[in-house]
Amino acid sequence: MAKKPDQKILVIDFGAQYAQLITRRIRECKVYSEIVPHTIKAAEIKTLKPSGIILSGGPASVYLENTPTVDTDIFKLGIPILGICYGMQLMAHLIGGKVTKTGQNEYGKTTLTINKNNYLFKHLSPKQTVWMSHQDSVVKAPPGFKKTALTPGAPVAAMENRTDKLYGVQFHPEVNHTEKGLDILKNFLYEACNCLPSWTTVSMIEEAIIAIQKEVGKNKIICGLSGGVDSAVAALLVHKAVGDQLTCVFVDHGLLRKGEAEQVEATFRQHFHINLIHVNAKKRFLSKLDGVTDPEKKRVIIGEEFIRVFEAEAERMENVDFLVQGTLYPDVIESGTKDAARIKTHHNVGGIPLDIHFSLVEPLRLLFKDEVRVVGEELGLPEEIVWRQPFPGPGLAVRIIGEITEARLEILREADAIVTEEIKRAGLYREIWQSFAVLPTIKSVGVKGDKRSYAYPIAIRAVTSEDAMTADWVRLPYEVLEKLSARIINEVPNVNRVVYDISTKPPSTIEWE
Ligand code: XMP
Repeated sequence: MAKKPDQKILVIDFGAQYAQLITRRIRECKVYSEIVPHTIKAAEIKTLKPSGIILSGGPASVYLENTPTVDTDIFKLGIPILGICYGMQLMAHLIGGKVTKTGQNEYGKTTLTINKNNYLFKHLSPKQTVWMSHQDSVVKAPPGFKKTALTPGAPVAAMENRTDKLYGVQFHPEVNHTEKGLDILKNFLYEACNCLPSWTTVSMIEEAIIAIQKEVGKNKIICGLSGGVDSAVAALLVHKAVGDQLTCVFVDHGLLRKGEAEQVEATFRQHFHINLIHVNAKKRFLSKLDGVTDPEKKRVIIGEEFIRVFEAEAERMENVDFLVQGTLYPDVIESGTKDAARIKTHHNVGGIPLDIHFSLVEPLRLLFKDEVRVVGEELGLPEEIVWRQPFPGPGLAVRIIGEITEARLEILREADAIVTEEIKRAGLYREIWQSFAVLPTIKSVGVKGDKRSYAYPIAIRAVTSEDAMTADWVRLPYEVLEKLSARIINEVPNVNRVVYDISTKPPSTIEWE
């Protein structure tokens, strides 16, 4: 387990999508923050010793039955609390204020008028643009509170009780549309909670290193490298902490993109001098995949082979007790399994289930993806790894429709390299979730020079997405499409046509298989 910073803000989650965003914004203010469920008891909060608490927004209305609520004793802990939207309404409802449906719903931007003398809006001008999303409103602040701001639709758009350290805002300071949202959060953090902006990338790294050293001791530890950013950053942190006790295992299944294996070698062995076992298992994987066309069978075969190869390497290195896992904070929140200890089955290494007995070390389990990238940059990882788009564990196997052969892999690898190169050249790589080439089974007729050709098409897929659950195709500029088509047809043998995939997910998926 990564060590937690001493100073922290707890965000109590009432089930909206806002809790993660609030947490990230607080961290942007250089204060560590984490999410807890609304069922948490005041006594437990006390033991966690937070510097402050935020009650998040939520989809519910305070008077509905079974609406999410919170242990009212938290208001007596003397810990500063900020309620946001539903969080403020709940605070008002629970401690003697009045919340009603006024009929004046507010969605989107509105103007906030601020009263003088208050903590949250210190140094802000009296009119502010804020973002609202509510049907209910606090119409009477609880006893001891004063109204600190109003909007056309909310008579109590903000309130505070400085004696009891309780604050509320009806709008959402965490969204970008609230222009001074970060300043308002900073006032809560630095003024009301007395926090210092001390949670920086350097402190994240230092804390992670101390925690890993404590956990691993003098034992040996193994890490599967996939070439992606999470396993790379996790490996570097562990290496900084325990040096040569770490061995990285890179299973090259022959289904990687052009230059990927070489880059892992150059980065980890040559640049960082990390013990690296590079298993060249291309032949083994290709022979198992020989003649297999069913996508799910491909996945199963690759998954199983991966485990075999990884286990064999782990067994060869005697006395290994620990396994590095690149779990991120959103996975921890979703699974709700805090402090996972000894694993048996169905844990992921490079997205593949691993049936192996190790203690897990998860140096990224407190971090969001963007924080992992910042840490990666700070540790000196090359940009291509830090900003690499997601890549499926089974690799190019699920982008070659039908049979996988060396020759077909070569075609796809070359075409894919051109896609990546041109997307990067156009400055679009980071804003696109995934962009890649796909090789179908069909062939079509063309003319190259004066000759008839009968060759494969290449499909280009480029999507934007937040989390891979839904995706939209990218409106790539025509010049980029033109360049891609010309280069792929001219430079990749056996290809005479390029098509662009304009399907959304759902109903399509991102990958073709
Ligand atoms: P789909 O194709 O389902 O993909 O829209 C959603 C996301 O998951 C990735 N993906 C995989 N990742 N093993 C993985 O580790 C797999 O078998 C696999 N299949 C799809 C895909 O690249 C996209 O980011």
